[in-house]
Amino acid sequence: MNGGSTSAPAPQLAGQTVVLIGGSAGIGLETARRARLEGADVILTGRNPERLKAAAADVGALRTAAFDANDSDAFREFFDSMPAPIDHILITAGGPTYGPMLEMDVADVRDALSGHVVLGLQIARVAQPKMRPGGSLLLMGGTGGRRIDHRVGIVSAATATLPPFTAALALEIAPVRVQSHRCGLRRHPRSLRRYSAINSNNRRQELISTLPIGRVVTADDVAALAIHLMVNTALTGATYDIDGGQQFV
Ligand SMILES: NC(=O)c1ccc[n+]([C@@H]2O[C@H](COP(=O)([O-])OP(=O)(O)OC[C@H]3O[C@@H](n4cnc5c(N)ncnc54)[C@H](OP(=O)(O)O)[C@@H]3O)[C@@H](O)[C@H]2O)c1
Repeated sequence: MNGGSTSAPAPQLAGQTVVLIGGSAGIGLETARRARLEGADVILTGRNPERLKAAAADVGALRTAAFDANDSDAFREFFDSMPAPIDHILITAGGPTYGPMLEMDVADVRDALSGHVVLGLQIARVAQPKMRPGGSLLLMGGTGGRRIDHRVGIVSAATATLPPFTAALALEIAPVRVQSHRCGLRRHPRSLRRYSAINSNNRRQELISTLPIGRVVTADDVAALAIHLMVNTALTGATYDIDGGQQFV
């Protein structure tokens, strides 16, 4: 007979506040769900108010705010109105622009190259004064762009900026921690849909049959990593791949 205790492990984010910039769907919403299970209060943002309302009811969010993350006035207002302290912020809003670079106009190229960096930096600036030491800012990228491929175009160059940016920002805003995770394709982002070679159910089946893990990475898989990066205070400045080995096949 086992005489050890059978009590459940203590929630790892009890009393903490997690802000999900892009929290009404996908990875952001699944991270909010897991953060709630770990005892955190969650605040969800996104553009579509109806989707936010439904997501907030789903996970029991403390608060929501509808704004476009590319609107710097709007997110400054949001962070100004937030009571301190904020423990963790995950940014999943926005996404890459796929396609041949010669077909892109200059503004789109600039945006694609700097989008994640500029958004991460702007949010770091306004949020840092309210963040608890040891808290974390998590950025999001993909592993798909690591492979040079005419279908992903500028995404490869944009993806390459994330690890050094993450490390440099981690030095600047310490003791707040900064980390990135790059996930593999779990479903087709809207921006990929015009490229029929990628946009097909066959692609998903192909991933299932070729990935070393034998399945596609889910939003919940990525959320589990995000929670670990929040909880483990030894981690900062690094970029983590979560793609089931997709980059190698
Ligand atoms: N899905 C994949 O397979 C995959 C693979 C690699 C990398 N990624 C990256 O992971 C991130 C999240 O992916 P996901 O699958 O979780 O996406 P998703 O299911 O489409 O969810 C995106 C969330 O962000 C919000 N959002 C999007 N653009 C926004 C903006 N400009 N301002 C404010 N909120 C915004 C969305 O709500 P609203 O639309 O209402 O604003 C939604 O809550 C993206 O950066 C994506 O590029 C995804």
